[in-house]
Amino acid sequence: MKILIVGSGAREHAMVWKLAGERNVSEVLCAPGNPGIAAHARCVPAEADSPAALLAIAAREAVDLTVVGPELPLSLGIVDLFAAAGRPIVGPSKAAAALESSKAFAKAFMERHRIPTARFRVCDSADAAYLAIAAGDFAYPLVLKADGLAAGKGVVIASDRASAEDTVRMTMVDRRFGAAGERLVLEECLVGEEASYFVLADATACVPLSSAQDHKRIFDDDRGANTGGMGAFAPSPRMTPDVERRVLDEIVRPVLDGMEREGHPFRGFLYVGLMLTASGPKVVEFNVRFGDPEAQVVLPRLDEDLSWLLGSAATGVLPSRPARFRAEPHVGIVLAAPGYPESARTGTVITGIEAASRLPGAFVFHAATSRRDGQLVTAGGRVLTVVGRGAGYREAIDVAYRAASHIRFEGMQFRTDIGRKALAS
Ligand code: AMP
Ligand code: GLY
Repeated sequence: MKILIVGSGAREHAMVWKLAGERNVSEVLCAPGNPGIAAHARCVPAEADSPAALLAIAAREAVDLTVVGPELPLSLGIVDLFAAAGRPIVGPSKAAAALESSKAFAKAFMERHRIPTARFRVCDSADAAYLAIAAGDFAYPLVLKADGLAAGKGVVIASDRASAEDTVRMTMVDRRFGAAGERLVLEECLVGEEASYFVLADATACVPLSSAQDHKRIFDDDRGANTGGMGAFAPSPRMTPDVERRVLDEIVRPVLDGMEREGHPFRGFLYVGLMLTASGPKVVEFNVRFGDPEAQVVLPRLDEDLSWLLGSAATGVLPSRPARFRAEPHVGIVLAAPGYPESARTGTVITGIEAASRLPGAFVFHAATSRRDGQLVTAGGRVLTVVGRGAGYREAIDVAYRAASHIRFEGMQFRTDIGRKALAS
């Protein structure tokens, strides 16, 4: 099987790395990829925001199966385009991708199908939002979310009315997130520990994958600005068999049945962002793709062929059983460029990756790297994910941090507490 992976981050590096070692895979292509990915796959230049160009690559290369990493091409309808051309692809249609690309759609869908989530109100104008705030139907802190895709930055937790009104102004009047801020969702703030859960779905069939926990804030102890994710571990010790059963019965199953009934069957990776509250698991958000950095700690644990699972999803023959995983927990630390997440200073030389990768149980996945004059340099905010595997969380954390200690670039920032939550529980 010849497989094309769309994307260029550490999530796609983890996918490519896993697929490249599998017996049914003859070749892996990645569009556009990165220098780390190039060690396992043939990288093809491409723009992620051009589904037509990606289809042309798949046709020219006679690719058997295409898998999409990031949300942008999905929200632009890459799956519809491939399907119309008869090219196998794993991912949701543009209509099904609305579970991620429109928070207003996702909330209304959950309400229609009685899926547990925070109480909410969708506001179509700044005046409507000011009125809803003035009505006092929600206590503080109040969560405000731009409706559309905003790279994880469109959510504000306002501690009082003044900061809630500021957020309305910034999102709906000043349009900080562009068209993503045409609508705003106000919602109740949920209390509990966050966890993610992943399944691979084909309409109403689904293979449960794994749980994980992300670390979204830039600084230790969950302080500072929200980021795309500064580290993760898998599995989540909070995801007991009982909680997992509830997530599948009360959330995943109704989502897949509901999307099918509404005429938009869901295919691909479904990422359920959860708050584990005192009254049970509730949905914080859906993503219609694998998580980053969650994929980097889930895929190295997968103890069967990813190519087989993906091929089964594309051809409608997914097995009705959970995927098989190694028992060992994995912990991943994101090494970020200085200035991230506001901006990122890039173009500085990276050293120590070979020494880090030689450590038993360690993996280094590239996100934003590039080659300049034969040297590896930083090329964006989240530069690398360094993963450690261990017999327990303690060992996995130690392996990851020992591996990361070999890597250097100017201004490198990372959290020092990734995985600590797993030790505490
Ligand atoms: P989202 O982009 O919807 O995942 O939101 C980003 C982050 O904001 C989440 O990972 C949570 O940490 C936080 N968040 C979002 N919605 C809520 C909520 N209703 N209650 C508490 N925290 C939330
Ligand atoms: N880890 C969060 C995300 O992939 O959106």
